Amino acid sequence: MTKKMIDLESLPYYDPLTNKKVAVITGGNSGIGWYTVLHLYMHGVIIYICGRNSHKVNRAMKDIQNEAFRRRSLEKHDFKEERSFGAMIYIHMDLTDLKTVERGCLKIIGLERQIDILINNAAVLALPYELTKDGFEIQLQTNYIAHFLLSLRLLPLLKKGHGRIITLSSVGHLLEFKYWKLDIKWDYKPNMIFTWIRYAVAKTASIQYTKMLSIKHPDVLCLSLHPGLVMNTNLFSYWTRLPLVGIFFWVLFQIIGYFFGVSNEEGSIATVRCALSADLTVEKDNGKYFTTGGVESTSSRVANNLDNAASTWIWTVRALKERGFDVK
Ligand SMILES: NC(=O)c1ccc[n+]([C@@H]2O[C@H](COP(=O)([O-])OP(=O)(O)OC[C@H]3O[C@@H](n4cnc5c(N)ncnc54)[C@H](OP(=O)(O)O)[C@@H]3O)[C@@H](O)[C@H]2O)c1
Repeated sequence: MTKKMIDLESLPYYDPLTNKKVAVITGGNSGIGWYTVLHLYMHGVIIYICGRNSHKVNRAMKDIQNEAFRRRSLEKHDFKEERSFGAMIYIHMDLTDLKTVERGCLKIIGLERQIDILINNAAVLALPYELTKDGFEIQLQTNYIAHFLLSLRLLPLLKKGHGRIITLSSVGHLLEFKYWKLDIKWDYKPNMIFTWIRYAVAKTASIQYTKMLSIKHPDVLCLSLHPGLVMNTNLFSYWTRLPLVGIFFWVLFQIIGYFFGVSNEEGSIATVRCALSADLTVEKDNGKYFTTGGVESTSSRVANNLDNAASTWIWTVRALKERGFDVK
């Protein structure tokens, strides 16, 4: 582990019976999200895992529980008996279908009176151009628009707990070197190039709406982050599973990972820090961007520009309204 990573042991531990903390995460069943859930669970947080495949999420919950017990049994501290595990609950949500996002939110709202942490983690990358059933480009909807809707629907419960919204962006947002309107389709060939542009637009928008949220709702701590390069998650599997050339991409990603990458678990540290650190406050940190290991950083000039952020916000509200989703 590099020196710059935050020590997760230093973050607060909660007891679900006496000091309940509730988190909601998308994509908690694999990759970076899996380790994020593991650490939150070990810190005593109750976590709603929103996913599209109940089998995968239930299996992940079982594996996370086993790993948490294994790790706790190896801990040497005197206080290990005092630390409680949290809980994990599956919520069905397919981010390519906004109605399921609304249904999932209603379920959570029916079960909880307040939410402390929302983690917008799920994403797809590299997919060919495709429209969802809501009529958005698939990466834009999965990575950005569905999370925009999710955040606004859960906002009343987040406000009750003076909560946090943590949104995973990516260093890939830097590819948006000038502001592009969100209705540009980028439906060109080769996919290998334009899929990155579509990813960059979605990940820039994720930072922009985080900034807007922090301005519109200053009582909720809104942060975005790049988790690090984690080359062996499923994020890259569209390329590595391509017939014939897949093996080339696999080798290439392994090389990149070797020189510049971090492990899945190290990739989760920035999120866990943003979710739990008592050092981060609305007064001094709202709207900030973090990078690998939970270190404060700066996003691109395009993502930082508040006029761009406002345009992105207005476009998204209008696009959702046109589809029957009333948001403000
Ligand atoms: N890995 C990296 O190097 C890297 C770098 C920069 C940023 N990030 C960001 O880190 C986050 C986590 O990525 P990762 O590398 O851990 O990827 P991952 O292992 O592929 O995890 C992505 C998660 O998103 C879920 N997901 C995808 N589409 C969904 C949908 N339509 N509805 C519900 N859930 C959906 C996946 O569920 P299924 O299992 O059902 O597919 C999976 O749980 C992403 O936001 C990514 O952009 C990653």
